[in-house]
Amino acid sequence: MHVIPTGRRPRRGVLTAALGGLLLSLLTASPPSSAAAAAASDHQAETATISQGTVASNHSGYTGSGFVDYTNVTGSYVEFTVSAGAAGGASLAFRYANGTGADRPMDISIGGRVVAPNVSFPPTANWTTWATKTVNADLAAGGNKVRATATTPSGGPNLDKLTVDAAADTQA
Ligand code: GCU
Ligand code: CA
Repeated sequence: MHVIPTGRRPRRGVLTAALGGLLLSLLTASPPSSAAAAAASDHQAETATISQGTVASNHSGYTGSGFVDYTNVTGSYVEFTVSAGAAGGASLAFRYANGTGADRPMDISIGGRVVAPNVSFPPTANWTTWATKTVNADLAAGGNKVRATATTPSGGPNLDKLTVDAAADTQA
C-alpha cells in the first residue's frame, strides 16, 4: 500500500490563500484597453477664413491667439477647412461667447450645403464666459469647408474655435 506522505501535502490554508490571491488579481485586473480613439482636432477661428469679421483678443478666456468678432450683419461668416480620413459622422463643437441678452443664431454648412440651419448660440452671461455648441454632421473624406454664417442682423457670437471629433460620431 502506498501512503501519501502527509508532510508533503500542501496545507489547506496555503491553498485557500493562493486561490484568494488569484481571485483578487482577477477582480482588480484592469479591463482590456479599447482601440485608441481618434483624437479630436482643434481649429482656431482666428486662422480660419473670415468674411465680415475681425480677429480680436479684447475678452479673456479664448484659446489660441484670439477669437473672431463677427461683424454685426446677416451673412457674416467663419469658414474652417476640416480634413477627414474617411467619410462619416463627426461632432462639430463651436466654442463661443455671447455677452448680449439675445440669441445669435448661425447656419452651419459643409461644402456649401446647410447641414444645421439657424443653430442657436444663446447668451453666455458676458463676453468672457465661453460655451460650446455641438452639431453632429457627416464629413466627406478629404477636405471639408465647414462654415458658420450669421442669420440675423446682429451677426454671430464671438467665435473661439471649432473642435471636430469623428470618434464622438452620433450619426446613425
Ligand atoms: C461688443 C463686444 C464684442 C462683440 C460685440 C457684438 O462690442 O466687445 O466682442 O462682438 O459687442 O455685439 O457683437
Ligand atoms: Ca460682433
